[in-house]
Amino acid sequence: MRAEYNKIASSCVAARTSDSEDVQLLNLLVRRLPKGAMVLDAGCGSGYPVAQFLAKSLQVTGVDFAEEQLRLAKRTALDTRLVCADLSNMPFTSGIFDALCSYYAIIHVPCNEHSKLLRDFHRILKPSGLALLCLGAGDLPEDIDDWHGAQMYWSHYDDGTNLRMMTEGGFDILWFKTVQDPVHSPASPLFVLGQKR
Ligand SMILES: C[S@@+](CC[C@H](N)C(=O)[O-])C[C@H]1O[C@@H](n2cnc3c(N)ncnc32)[C@H](O)[C@@H]1O
Repeated sequence: MRAEYNKIASSCVAARTSDSEDVQLLNLLVRRLPKGAMVLDAGCGSGYPVAQFLAKSLQVTGVDFAEEQLRLAKRTALDTRLVCADLSNMPFTSGIFDALCSYYAIIHVPCNEHSKLLRDFHRILKPSGLALLCLGAGDLPEDIDDWHGAQMYWSHYDDGTNLRMMTEGGFDILWFKTVQDPVHSPASPLFVLGQKR
């Protein structure tokens, strides 16, 4: 996936807009946080539009394993600190972020690793920290398809399983909704806002 995401970095930027419903959901997070709060964008890609939106009022760190995506992020999300790492092995100490968001990245990690990933997200949040996550809404153990000449890998559980895993991983669920993926229509992943217990 890392090589594939390097290959399609500019197509990813071209396919996104800043006014889609998923981007507007970021307000759910922003309005609950004080100005300058520390937020992680996990799987930040090019930084457009998510990190760019968050960086208007928050102190953003973006993490992604695709160097080409991060190279673009240096230009699109100017005030964002960028870290090149795999989500399954993030180099962050415990309890440092007020919030995190992860859009369209967890669904590219094999689903049998999602529970561990959610627990790691929980670990790096401060007490009562917030997590706005894009997860699967239907059961899809594994799928590979072509997007702009790249082989994309998808893997996720259904919505009920994802909400249960978040609860078991130490989050209270504040809100959830399926929202159309503006790039891979008609896919409608599950967006969840959780709070660290
Ligand atoms: C569809 S893009 C989404 C980018 C951005 N979050 C957005 O909403 O526009 C998915 C991003 O997740 C990154 N990604 C996927 N799996 C990853 C992993 N295991 N570790 C780090 N980054 C990953 C890819 O490199 C890519 O930049």
